[in-house]
Amino acid sequence: MASGGARTVCRAARLAMMPGAALARPLTSRVASLAAGPTAATKTTATATTRWISTVGARQAADTTSFDDFVAEVEKNQAAAAAATATAKKAAASAAEEGEQQPPRWSYTPAAMKAPVSMQRPKDPKRSIWHTNEDPEVLDQFYARFLGTHGPRLLPDELKWLAVTHKSFDQGRRGFNDRLAYLGRQAIILEVAKNIVSGSQAPAPAPDAYGRQPFEHPSLAALENFAEHQPADVISREKMCKLGMELGLLKVMRWKPRLPENLSGSGVEVVLSGAIHAIVGAVQLQCGAEVASRVIQEKILKRLNN
Ligand SMILES: *[C@@H]1O[C@H](CO)[C@@H](O)[C@H](O)[C@H]1NC(C)=O
Repeated sequence: MASGGARTVCRAARLAMMPGAALARPLTSRVASLAAGPTAATKTTATATTRWISTVGARQAADTTSFDDFVAEVEKNQAAAAAATATAKKAAASAAEEGEQQPPRWSYTPAAMKAPVSMQRPKDPKRSIWHTNEDPEVLDQFYARFLGTHGPRLLPDELKWLAVTHKSFDQGRRGFNDRLAYLGRQAIILEVAKNIVSGSQAPAPAPDAYGRQPFEHPSLAALENFAEHQPADVISREKMCKLGMELGLLKVMRWKPRLPENLSGSGVEVVLSGAIHAIVGAVQLQCGAEVASRVIQEKILKRLNN
């Protein structure tokens, strides 16, 4: 009985490691299949894969309402939720203390994080000089260019600044966008993969010289498209950086290039594409996957293709 149990776990674990299965099934169902044994695990994989392939109508959904109307609706819902929390917070704040107003966290380096003496000994002091944007108005203009008229109100102030803050800025003492960028990048890759799968079918491979029949299934047919296109080609770092440049992201980006006179030598491509990923990640955390999906499709992928 013990060895049978071990085999059950191994088989379920192998199923969970298959790339398709990992994409298709949420963790809870994987855990459930681990508990239920091999037959149940196989069944879950099959249905879940089919469901993932068939939910790719993102583009059709995007055509129904304009992005601005859609976002206005989202904003209304958010405002209602924010009002509810604001009343609760106000009560707590007035109870805590009255009068003393802290400046927003993005705008200053906390005193306790500063060493009494600077340990920096730059070889060329001129290279230490780099000015970044401090004006919320300028930042809002960027978000409006990127996400449309409702863009500046999609995210709270702290998140808006955090998403455009690279870890080279202020030695990372005001937070930075690495983890938001990781999340956003995964969301973008998923959207691109959905577009590739739902795109025009790749031509069937040439008949086999030995008459062998490959396994065929309607759900798997579209996967052939990945042989021709990969998400990495569609959203390469160069294209993302170019999009960021066109939107004026460089003007609001908070970073410190190693060589102010040679930005590409300082990794401007990584920094700008990372910030775009981070904004998507922030939108996804703040407004949910549906809004993030539309931002990716309409505000990024459409622009990359033109
Ligand atoms: C910029 O820096 C890179 C990497 O350090 C170097 O390869 C390139 O030649 C530099 N460009 C200029 C114009 O100095």
